Amino acid sequence: MRGSVRQEARIAAPTKAAAILARPLALPCGVVLRNRLVKSAMSDSLGDGAGNPTRDQACLYQRWARGGAAAAIVGEVQTDPFALEKPGNLVLAPDSDPEPFSRLTGCGRENHGHIWAQLGHAGALAYAPLGRPRGPSAIDMPGLSCAQMTAGEIRDIPALFAAGAERAKAAGFTGVQIHAAHGFLLSQFLSPLFNRRTDDWGGALPRRVRLLMESIEAVRAAVGAGFPVALKMNCTDRLEGGLHEEDAAELVGLIDATSIDLVEVSGGTYFPGAKPAGGGRGGGPYFVDFARGLRSRTSKPLMATGGFKSLAQVADALESGAVDFVGLARAFVMDPDLPGKWIPGSGPDPHFPRFAATTPGAVTAWYTMRIAMLAEGREDGFADSAEKALDRYERRDAARHESWRARFGNP
Ligand SMILES: Cc1cc2nc3c(=O)[nH]c(=O)nc-3n(C[C@H](O)[C@H](O)[C@H](O)COP(=O)(O)O)c2cc1C
Repeated sequence: MRGSVRQEARIAAPTKAAAILARPLALPCGVVLRNRLVKSAMSDSLGDGAGNPTRDQACLYQRWARGGAAAAIVGEVQTDPFALEKPGNLVLAPDSDPEPFSRLTGCGRENHGHIWAQLGHAGALAYAPLGRPRGPSAIDMPGLSCAQMTAGEIRDIPALFAAGAERAKAAGFTGVQIHAAHGFLLSQFLSPLFNRRTDDWGGALPRRVRLLMESIEAVRAAVGAGFPVALKMNCTDRLEGGLHEEDAAELVGLIDATSIDLVEVSGGTYFPGAKPAGGGRGGGPYFVDFARGLRSRTSKPLMATGGFKSLAQVADALESGAVDFVGLARAFVMDPDLPGKWIPGSGPDPHFPRFAATTPGAVTAWYTMRIAMLAEGREDGFADSAEKALDRYERRDAARHESWRARFGNP
């Protein structure tokens, strides 16, 4: 008897967790996401080197859709080819060939899945060999330099995001996410460390947030009322003098008055020497407590991304009411079928590799190269070390310079 009670408890706990994950939720725009697990944006670097989606990339998003993700967000989709993050990015240009885009989005929509484009602009972090690094303020430091944007260049940005959103919708994406995290352009404007302007776009938070607010408004006007527009923001830059949690919470209060459908909380930047986003308590999810504190500031659906490794962690974040969705990036790279396994309540947690101290960027490169193997269905044979992955990743990017220049010209 006691044995069977224990067994019941073992079965009941995951089933309850699974029920929470499986609950659909309507976004403010009216679109319903089928469950609470979102594949967070990753720059998969599977473009063809001239801004177009490849067949492999379509296969990748088909796997995530079939695996059961409520939405999969394509990272770093650019509108300005000179504001690229990497030459494997997609570019939504006026003359983009619709066919590869509709193949990608068609695959991503399988199985009632959503495929959203993360609208990017790398700003000061634009890939220097092919881009035009520009930020709110000039930077001149080892490993990074950029010019200050003129007022005219800043005024053009909302229309640029709007054009990207309109083209994303026409290409079959079912939503967009405005990227205002991780030290890219909009995140630079929000950060007092990188935005030292003294004009209308710099200074106190209401002025640093102006470009983001105008971009949100322009994107909404471009896509209409019934289309998901999400936002990814930092709760902290993890840099001294950068955006910190009090400002980020105030920002969410301002976002509450906009038409944003989902606020994704993340953190950290790619600036040279920045601390990694994680480092939270006990190696668990990083931003759940911060998200919980936002409930009093906003009624928008919230999603936390960062550090989730197990069904128990995900269920806890959802069940406690801290967040409405959980964003998973690396977990979906280790197992693209997680929702299909977790929602029935029986699936195992993914196995994550451990890396010894590595060169900066090597771990991200490892995940990116594993994504390429996922896209080909060959992930079981992936045995690269982080250093080897970084080497292959950098060579692949270098080999794309010529095709990028051939399509978009010199910066
Ligand atoms: C290979 C890789 C590429 C990423 N690219 C992007 C990106 O393009 N845009 C973005 O907002 N975040 C990007 N991220 C960050 C993830 O979306 C996520 O915030 C971070 O990995 C923490 O979540 P995780 O612990 O579930 O991996 C990337 C992460 C990885 C591992």
